[in-house]
Amino acid sequence: MKQYHVSIYRHDPSVEGSGRYVDYTLSTDARLKVLDALDAVSKEYDTDIAYRASCLMGRCGSCAVMLNGRALLACQAQVEPGNSRLEPLRGYLVVRDLLVDRTPHERVIDAARIHLDDSGFARPTGFTYGKDLYALTLCTDCLVCQASCPARNEIPAQFAGPAVMTQLARYARDPRDQGARPTTALVEGLHSCTSCMTCSEVCPRGIDVFGQAIVALRKGAVGSRLPGPKVQDDMTEMFRETGLAFPKSGPLLVEEMAEAGPKQGDVGVFLGCMFQTRHKDDGRALVKVLRDAGHTPVVPEGLVCCGGPLLWTGHEEEARQAAATNVKILNDAGVGTVVTACAGCGLAWRKEYPRLLEGTGLSPQFTVLDVSKMLDARESPQASAGSERLAYFLPCHIRSQGAADDARRAAEWSITRSGRTYVEVDFPECCGGMAASADPQLAARLAAKVIAAAEENSIDAIVTSCPFCVENLARGSRRARSKVRVTHLLGV
Ligand code: SF4
Ligand code: SF4
Ligand code: FES
Repeated sequence: MKQYHVSIYRHDPSVEGSGRYVDYTLSTDARLKVLDALDAVSKEYDTDIAYRASCLMGRCGSCAVMLNGRALLACQAQVEPGNSRLEPLRGYLVVRDLLVDRTPHERVIDAARIHLDDSGFARPTGFTYGKDLYALTLCTDCLVCQASCPARNEIPAQFAGPAVMTQLARYARDPRDQGARPTTALVEGLHSCTSCMTCSEVCPRGIDVFGQAIVALRKGAVGSRLPGPKVQDDMTEMFRETGLAFPKSGPLLVEEMAEAGPKQGDVGVFLGCMFQTRHKDDGRALVKVLRDAGHTPVVPEGLVCCGGPLLWTGHEEEARQAAATNVKILNDAGVGTVVTACAGCGLAWRKEYPRLLEGTGLSPQFTVLDVSKMLDARESPQASAGSERLAYFLPCHIRSQGAADDARRAAEWSITRSGRTYVEVDFPECCGGMAASADPQLAARLAAKVIAAAEENSIDAIVTSCPFCVENLARGSRRARSKVRVTHLLGV
């Protein structure tokens, strides 16, 4: 029989300091959902664990808990045999055991008047739901996204969280609604979202919370000419003027390479803004990695920002222009593969371009890969164990591409090959790098947590594969007066 060892957080509010984990063991051949395990423990141990459930089919949203640190629905998620840990939702006061107090969330919904406001409006006849509005109405208010959101967990008083944004976006999309939803979203901290996309990954109802709620509200704010963070407005202006979203000092890397580089090859290199300007050494290293792997990389001129930072801050039209320009140039280059070393660029290409290119008649005639895929394809190096300890920090935008395993393997490969010791560290999920342009204090707080985790594990250097993470973590390390260095995977 399979053994399930479940450690459950128990807390009796009438007894001060009673919070503790209690271990229970179940022996069964059946496959158990979390709720099955809770029911079985309650019965077999004759104990009164407090938890909520109602529909038992993922529709009411009442049964959300944390399983091994991940928020999910107890009636849907499986418990695996072996050890597991069940806790109440992160970021809420515990009423008892696995029950949390939902009142703060409901107060925000009430105070921000997030309900249909059709006062004085003649209802349109034949009203039908569009695709996005329909998707948003599927939200059950389960709070799984809230408990998973790094921004909401860090600054709940300033950022109301993704579930609140989902409700605001739902009414913003409703043609009957008269509320000023983007304005309310700004008041509720819309720009403090770090664009990590965790909410979209965890939503049990399959809502793309980041795209359909956060980005839609940001786009609404831009369309309504509401003031945005200055750095982001400057970024968009710079894109209109130069094609890049970040300032350049001196020649772009592509200009430096123009003379020496081949005009034709099998792999296209997409440098994006960062490797063209602030991280040129990593850009050069990317080209070298491809050459060393036996490819003939081409770096075409005229490529612009990937458009990701523009789209995710609400500037969809500019993002569409960027996508069309880049696809046209790389199609003309005749390459079969395009490689990027920026997590954000890769995500924009793979997740956002199909939608941005709709109606343009353009589609990429090549596959886009992160550089980790190219490193991973190569032979395993001999294991070595130098005294320097390096750990890989997984960027959110690599995770959102579904490329986490490739990236971790590539990091282990590069670190081991360089004669240093690869160490697994359970880092916080988001470093806050993408929030730096709108909420630098939040970005600093999240980076400080990553640096603290590195210090606790006696790490000499953090390796990552996103230039935004590199910059934000390096700032975090300097602020903490830490000796932990931060480098891109290409710099190992
Ligand atoms: S994208 Fe990340 S920070 Fe933004 S709302 Fe979703 S989970 Fe929170
Ligand atoms: S958006 Fe999804 S995860 Fe968030 S509260 Fe709604 S249903 Fe739950
Ligand atoms: S019991 Fe209704 S969603 Fe789980």
